[in-house]
Amino acid sequence: MSDKKIFIVNGSPRKNWNTAKMCKSFADGAGSKGAATQIINLYDIDFKGCISCFACKLKGGAYFGRCACRDGLTAMLEEIYHADGLVLASPIYLGDVTSSMRAFVERLIFPLLQYDERHSSIAPKRFKTAVIYTMNVSEDYFFNEYLGRKESDTLRCFESFIKRIFTEPQRLYAFDTYQFTDYDKYVVECFDKNKKAKQREEQFPKDLQAAYDAGALMAASLCNDA
Ligand SMILES: Cc1cc2nc3c(=O)[nH]c(=O)nc-3n(C[C@H](O)[C@H](O)[C@H](O)COP(=O)(O)O)c2cc1C
Repeated sequence: MSDKKIFIVNGSPRKNWNTAKMCKSFADGAGSKGAATQIINLYDIDFKGCISCFACKLKGGAYFGRCACRDGLTAMLEEIYHADGLVLASPIYLGDVTSSMRAFVERLIFPLLQYDERHSSIAPKRFKTAVIYTMNVSEDYFFNEYLGRKESDTLRCFESFIKRIFTEPQRLYAFDTYQFTDYDKYVVECFDKNKKAKQREEQFPKDLQAAYDAGALMAASLCNDA
């Protein structure tokens, strides 16, 4: 075991579904190369997004460059700032990451974003980063509509702040995910349950393997950097 630590943040309310499984695979891969990992389930934590108090920007203020909100996230943010790697994993909700992931990123990133000409970063460390998205839509739809359309490039914006403050995130995905335990119980006309089952059996294991490999690669690169 090396002394390198990677935090993996699960922005799904479901702790054993698609996003959680991708997080676990990434953690297993990182662990296979000796890194310590910690999975944080955001929906277990009592916290809010930024409340716009600006204590983090106050000249000479006690909380300059840090979030002054005191809640379930406070101690965790400080630990993450000194990590060696960070993974932000979220299901796609209405074309974006979940509201909890947004709230988390406001608290994590805004205190480190300087109001200077270059909007520079005062992050204590520029650690390695990755994002994991899981979603109903297909790969084509994701690239053409969610990332391709200029008027709705919310995910590009999300990633651009991660890049600005820490490093450019590696992007991992699981498309066309299985959403319910039993499709027959729900009113679902636009998804074919047999196609979904096929995707879950044939493609999802490959997505999990990609997350495992990415975890192993991130951990190995941290050890090589040391
Ligand atoms: C409130 C809500 C909104 C969603 N919006 C989208 C969406 O805009 N695009 C999409 O592809 N999937 C959407 N989904 C589906 C989820 O992103 C997908 O099932 C995801 O894999 C769920 O992750 P989980 O299994 O980890 O909870 C939505 C699901 C919910 C509950």
